[in-house]
Amino acid sequence: MSTEGVRRAVIINGHETAYESASTHIEDRGYQFGESVYEVLAFYSGTPLRLSEHLSRLSRSAVAIGLELPSSESLIRDIARAAGMADIVTGSVYIQVTSGVSPRAHIAQEKLSPTVTIIAQATPPDRTGLPLVPITCVTVPDERWARCNIKTTNLLPNVLARKTAIQRGYDDALFVRDGLILEGPSNNVFFVRNGGLLTPPANNFILEGITRAAIIEVARKLRLEVRQEPVTPEAAYGSQEAFITSTIMNIRPISVIDGQRYPSPIPGPVTDAVYENLLRLIDDETNAKT
Ligand code: PDD
Repeated sequence: MSTEGVRRAVIINGHETAYESASTHIEDRGYQFGESVYEVLAFYSGTPLRLSEHLSRLSRSAVAIGLELPSSESLIRDIARAAGMADIVTGSVYIQVTSGVSPRAHIAQEKLSPTVTIIAQATPPDRTGLPLVPITCVTVPDERWARCNIKTTNLLPNVLARKTAIQRGYDDALFVRDGLILEGPSNNVFFVRNGGLLTPPANNFILEGITRAAIIEVARKLRLEVRQEPVTPEAAYGSQEAFITSTIMNIRPISVIDGQRYPSPIPGPVTDAVYENLLRLIDDETNAKT
């Protein structure tokens, strides 16, 4: 297993575990049935961005699949412990909670205690403020289920969509269901139309991103109109700029959708302004806490 010189730390059910040998039981229901939810947190200046929003979403995901989470206090304690072990200044923490270990049966015969896995990963500092590297996207049919608002680890259709995109010579995919663009395999999507932002509405067909919410806040501060409305591929092709958003990448401008190229410069002026103000928000919310 390559660790690429990245500093990682792992805590499984409260126990510090070496990354190279970290493992869970073969009868874990996350492994066997995908009965599992997760979150990814970004750290800046040693502080997690919007921790309470991520924990609230984890809780909503858990409730939606009938999974009992450990207390927020113990999750927060272990997140901080793992981040400290990896000596994170900038980096990420992955939290996964499965329903636990039990002999394989759809319905567990006993009350289980969840398996909680936390992986902290330090990345080189100054990750923020890097030039925005454009990305190319291709639309693909959305073959996921109808509860995409739950952040589960059942990501096979997402993985397949991204593989399809790469096979077709693109960097990433955009899911289309019933003639509407929804989101990417691990990101939300925004379009710039008539000087304002357009993004698909938050319903059960997308994951309501924490970054998406931050972008909407930033856009409103910039007095940009934000419409959360269905987006057809034609509306996307007719947009002036487009970008994807997620905790891990913040913003990536889209240079091409389905072979149609956005005009230079990329990022365009609206994406640029939103990004600059997102970085300010991140700085305000994390530096202020150190
Ligand atoms: N992905 N949509 C999907 C399907 C996602 O998996 C993600 C996040 C997002 C963006 O959400 P947020 O802004 O809260 O990160 C939208 C994470 C980063 C991942 O799976 O790695």
